[in-house]
Amino acid sequence: MWGTRRGCIIRYMLSLFGKEIRPSIDQVFTPRRTEVNRAIYVDRVALEKALIRALGGSLHTMIYGESGSGKSWLYKKVLSDIGALVATANCANAVRLKSLTAEIQQVVDEEEPKRLAEHSEEMNTTLKAVVAEGGLKSTRKYTFSESDPFLDCVRILRERAGSNSAVLVIDNLEMIFSSAALMEELASIVILLDDARYAKFSVKLLIVGVPSDAKRYLSKTHASVGNRLSEIPEVSNLSSDQVRTLIKTGFSLLKLELDEETLDMWQKHVFEITMGYAQPVQEYCQQLGYVLEDSNWKIEPEQLKEANIAWLKQGLSQASGLINEWMNKRETKAGRRNQVLYVLSKSKKKTFHVNDVESALRLEFASSTKPDQTLGVGQILSELSKGQNAILKRTQSEASYEFRDARFAMALRASLYKDPHRFKISKLDSPVADIE
Ligand SMILES: Nc1ncnc2c1ncn2[C@@H]1O[C@H](COP(=O)(O)OP(=O)(O)OP(=O)(O)O)[C@@H](O)[C@H]1O
Ligand SMILES: [Mg+2]
Repeated sequence: MWGTRRGCIIRYMLSLFGKEIRPSIDQVFTPRRTEVNRAIYVDRVALEKALIRALGGSLHTMIYGESGSGKSWLYKKVLSDIGALVATANCANAVRLKSLTAEIQQVVDEEEPKRLAEHSEEMNTTLKAVVAEGGLKSTRKYTFSESDPFLDCVRILRERAGSNSAVLVIDNLEMIFSSAALMEELASIVILLDDARYAKFSVKLLIVGVPSDAKRYLSKTHASVGNRLSEIPEVSNLSSDQVRTLIKTGFSLLKLELDEETLDMWQKHVFEITMGYAQPVQEYCQQLGYVLEDSNWKIEPEQLKEANIAWLKQGLSQASGLINEWMNKRETKAGRRNQVLYVLSKSKKKTFHVNDVESALRLEFASSTKPDQTLGVGQILSELSKGQNAILKRTQSEASYEFRDARFAMALRASLYKDPHRFKISKLDSPVADIE
């Protein structure tokens, strides 16, 4: 309602009476919004600069990073800052249409349906005229070069961009990464854009996706493609200071001025459990906002715990559910496995070696691990990486593991705690069976 005309009038009336208007929480924290919310956007100076430079250079650009790390917001913000004309093709749709070109054409067509239709009509007329003149050979040639939909697309993009940059974004590359045919099509698009017929329209490609090895893959299968692409550094987590800025900005928009001590505490907590990934940070702050709203915007010590529980239910329910299953599996060494999960929740490293986990386990649970006792950590980690419910995956190097998805690490961080009296691990959002 607040976004409507009536909402604006009410807001204006209230402001006349000196009332402070608090926007709604989901207007401020927008964890799933596709369009950039400038009010809460945290500047990523180094990445933004790298992207601007890459776009200004002679190569096409690639952006990669985990899902929810902020790739799309980054390029949308930068491209809008530099006033570029942007067309965004979604690889998810290319899969559906079985063609990347068809998706690109659809995107350009949607924005400028008339022009593309008019152009095709023109082509048809010309084509008919040429056929009527009997020049079959030249007709073929003409049809081939002029009715190329990709050529139409780059031409239209250039026309629309005028003297500004024109950027064709290929987003969600991970969707076609395993399709040899669509990756092949992408490779040929990259190469074609260097061909004089296409290059004269100077349309830049911006390829965006999760796989970190996309450039390597393309270089391997199509050597000349690698030379035409430049990668900017991985879009990874926000720094702890950036998380602080996001929290401070968001809650100040919600008319909550935080003292330094509270801000320090929230920054540390939010950074630790979300690992600084942009989308989870926004999800968490949104839940914390609701908890505060329920307490009439009065800050209380227990609120972070309540927000953890709410976030586990809202944003992490799948990951948390799988962890519950592991924690309650009545099998040998379940108690030890839960201790291992706790140790993993505390790990600051992305990749962990069996030996590191074992050393941390001995430190953390000194009274329940005798120095000469075999702890079976290798077996436990291997178990956690197998089957449908796996939360870990083995890495290339031997006896080392990573979380299959960062959300598992987050769910562990947000939910596990050590019961100091019983040396057992408990879970915030659901009971854990009392097993040894
Ligand atoms: N710079 C930022 N400042 C504040 N919040 C951000 C920022 N970047 C991203 N976010 C938050 O994270 C959410 C996800 O961002 P985005 O859609 O850009 O991720 P992504 O990396 O493109 O994910 P996916 O791979 O799933 O498409 C956004 O909706 C927004 O809430
Ligand atoms: Mg995205």
